[in-house]
Amino acid sequence: MTTTPRILMCPPDYYGIEYEINPWMSTEVGTDPVESRRQWQALHDTLVDLGVAVELMEPEPGLPDLVFTANAGLVFGDHFLSSRFRHGVRQGESAHFERWACARGFVVESLPPGHNFEGAGDALFCGPTLFAGYRFRSDARSHHWIGERLGVPVLPLELVDPRFYHLDTCFCPLSETAAIYYPGAFDDYGRSVLTGQIGTLIEVSAEEAVSFSCNAVVVGQTVVLNDGAPKLAKALNDLGYRSRPLRLTEFIKAGGSAKCLTLRLDGEEAASWKRSPELALPKLGATG
Ligand code: ARG
Repeated sequence: MTTTPRILMCPPDYYGIEYEINPWMSTEVGTDPVESRRQWQALHDTLVDLGVAVELMEPEPGLPDLVFTANAGLVFGDHFLSSRFRHGVRQGESAHFERWACARGFVVESLPPGHNFEGAGDALFCGPTLFAGYRFRSDARSHHWIGERLGVPVLPLELVDPRFYHLDTCFCPLSETAAIYYPGAFDDYGRSVLTGQIGTLIEVSAEEAVSFSCNAVVVGQTVVLNDGAPKLAKALNDLGYRSRPLRLTEFIKAGGSAKCLTLRLDGEEAASWKRSPELALPKLGATG
């Protein structure tokens, strides 16, 4: 059974570089609002063209990173585990994401206080397993909590390069058995976990990784990603995927690209739970 892919986006009305919380951001460089809107719209229209039902969140003044909906939380069936942002400047986003998720019928739950967790930016299913990046934004203990809560296996991966501060900047599952990754963002242990667990791993070079090519949106057999990664496009093609490169330079200025600007609501292509809905409705509900 195939269902319509659903993705949450937030228009860039108030997007800009108002603080610096990763090495890509410079308040001195700033962004071009017209070009940002144009690039965001091209991503939106590409997804619609691929058959995605794009849902839109209301943008909010004073929350310039609200466009990066991947960080809202982690979707699992009809549950939404809301993020707990590490940096104070992003913490105000959670109330908006939670209100949205509640209104859309998700069962919203938060991690206990003191846990840092940045949603689908750091937690990506590949098959039954949740691959979880920690150190710069999310904590390993948050991932442990999530694994217990959802009853899924979690493999925490330490991120070692501050430029690749979220897992989705250096790792992108394509299917239950295939993924893209940039080896330089992980330590030896992380690399061995990924190579040991995932049957087909496409390695992205350092030059292509800095153009955010791992930060891709997978819709069926199509991969929407930042342009500037011809080698990756060829490797994807050899695997039977079609790539749709887009220019998302205005968002790279904030440390994000295609994937960060989206939150898949019906389960990523690579998540095996989306194919077994009865398992996706676990014994959650009661908090505590
Ligand atoms: N400026 C944002 C931050 O540093 C960018 C977030 C990018 N999101 C992502 N999922 N990688 O938090």
